[in-house]
Amino acid sequence: MFDGPGARVTAKVMARRNLDAEREAIEMLDPRPTDRVVAIGVGAGVGVELLERRVAWVLAVDPSRVMVDETTRRNREAIGAGRVVVARSTAARLGVADGALDGAIAVNSIQMWEPLADSLAEVARVLRPGARLVTLTHDWAIERSTGQSVDGWLEHLDGLAATVGLRGLRSWRASAEGGRSVAVELTRTGGR
Ligand SMILES: C[S@@+](CC[C@H](N)C(=O)[O-])C[C@H]1O[C@@H](n2cnc3c(N)ncnc32)[C@H](O)[C@@H]1O
Repeated sequence: MFDGPGARVTAKVMARRNLDAEREAIEMLDPRPTDRVVAIGVGAGVGVELLERRVAWVLAVDPSRVMVDETTRRNREAIGAGRVVVARSTAARLGVADGALDGAIAVNSIQMWEPLADSLAEVARVLRPGARLVTLTHDWAIERSTGQSVDGWLEHLDGLAATVGLRGLRSWRASAEGGRSVAVELTRTGGR
């Protein structure tokens, strides 16, 4: 779906349909201008375009070649200026140093992270103590990808996250998708 013949069309649809969700997630993260942030599962890259205007540096990660192309095309100037790096990879392999980042954001992608525990552990590894992972996910995407109810998935996520150093799960109803989406915040433990 995110690579192959229909992927360019999927990218166009997501770019239009999910722009508000990307905007809402960035407001939730509320980054500082000096922050270095990873965006995971960036799709067509419209969220990266919004995010890079708010922070010092963005690492944009997606396993799909087509989505990496789309994100690169859309963010060419910021990439040239060294404000954005696009990597073809997954949440389970972010390729930056321990504690290097001030935040992580994922819109409609955490439901696809495989294996979820390893991916959460990798996000925890790259976040500095006190930094947050913020996700916004449509309910139907959680239900379809995981086979769980949103509440069941949240409970599962909370349990796994706590084992890798992401604690204090907060969740609430997000506005995107007519209110049928869920926002999650997890905080990296550690530090003083
Ligand atoms: C539904 S799209 C969402 C894209 C964009 N954030 C949006 O909301 O329009 C999910 C994206 O996550 C990517 N993805 C799939 N598995 C992933 C993984 N394990 N780690 C990171 N991204 C992944 C897909 O390639 C795809 O671009």
